[in-house]
Amino acid sequence: MSHKPNGRVTTMKAIAYDRYGSPDVLELRDVPTPTCNDDHVLVRIRAAAANPFDWHLLRGDPYLVHLAMGLRKPRRAMILGSDVAGVVEAVGVDVTRFRPGDEVYAVTEVGGFAEYVSIREPRVALKPATLTFEQAAAVPVAALTALQSLGNGERVKKGQKVLINGASGGIGTFAVQIAKSFGAEVTGVCSTAKVDMVRSIGADHVIDYTRQDFAQSGRRYDLLLDTVGNRSLSDFRRALTRTGTFVIVGGGGGRWLGPMSQRVKAALASPFVSQRIVLVSCNPIGKDLEILHGLIETGKVTPVIDRTYPLGEVPDAIRHLEEGHNRGKIVITIGDSTKVDIR
Ligand SMILES: NC(=O)c1ccc[n+]([C@@H]2O[C@H](COP(=O)([O-])OP(=O)(O)OC[C@H]3O[C@@H](n4cnc5c(N)ncnc54)[C@H](OP(=O)(O)O)[C@@H]3O)[C@@H](O)[C@H]2O)c1
Repeated sequence: MSHKPNGRVTTMKAIAYDRYGSPDVLELRDVPTPTCNDDHVLVRIRAAAANPFDWHLLRGDPYLVHLAMGLRKPRRAMILGSDVAGVVEAVGVDVTRFRPGDEVYAVTEVGGFAEYVSIREPRVALKPATLTFEQAAAVPVAALTALQSLGNGERVKKGQKVLINGASGGIGTFAVQIAKSFGAEVTGVCSTAKVDMVRSIGADHVIDYTRQDFAQSGRRYDLLLDTVGNRSLSDFRRALTRTGTFVIVGGGGGRWLGPMSQRVKAALASPFVSQRIVLVSCNPIGKDLEILHGLIETGKVTPVIDRTYPLGEVPDAIRHLEEGHNRGKIVITIGDSTKVDIR
């Protein structure tokens, strides 16, 4: 069965592209409104968030993207956006946990920079009532990655020392707060302009990387979470205790494999070092969104939003993200300014 909003479907506004390139290739277009399959939830999106994944897909960078999405150009018109928050418009017949009118947030593979998206039920969770749609959209990918990097609490014991490299970014701002909620002593690494913000979200210590090098400080951490990929494996290992854990979520370069190259090197080194090396890929499950729900509603975690942009300004949002110095999350508001009637 497929459901169409109000029984009839026309088009919706979306930011789409047909060829790899800079944000200049993104266009605000009318595209068909998605249908809602049996196990899907159709969400009217109120806000979405941008992630580095978006510009990697857009630019076809690294080349690995071409293998997955289409060699010379994407196989079909693409709509970016993996994080959304909005209102359930319709549910498929197999959906049991949601009904029209529910306020939700979710991880969708792509399709978030649009007015509607259809998402498999397990990727959806009820939106924390304490958050606006903009705040809720900032949560899914970055906060899930942060939570899962810390092993949902299993990898961090009370009082342990945790270092977050990239503490002022999307993942980093969540990781600082989540690690604190698990009772860790948290050190964040960021640039000068973000030191006060990183301290304000709970970091016990902040290292301004323009003035101090965490790898040369002589301090040892029980867990080091890297979101930047700007240092060698031996630099990271030097900052860890002998049995510490090094968690890699992203960053690093290379035109063919991009951030995967750092992961491959770390995986190859892993059997030969005393420290534990963990490679994390965000697992987009609603169950972990429920854990975040608890941390958010008890005030332990609050999204940090750098800036919001209307749907038509997604190209500027991606340009800002690509500069790599955002302060928390970049959010897209999708509301009355882009509203089209579904007739
Ligand atoms: N494994 C997964 O499933 C997964 C999921 C999501 C994202 N990722 C990847 O993880 C990485 C981070 O994602 P994100 O969303 O957090 O990115 P982001 O929001 O763009 O954050 C980047 C942060 O890096 C910081 N930074 C830049 N240079 C630095 C340096 N030399 N030392 C310390 N910090 C530095 C910047 O802070 P300053 O302005 O203070 O320099 C900025 O806040 C990306 O590579 C992304 O592709 C992986």
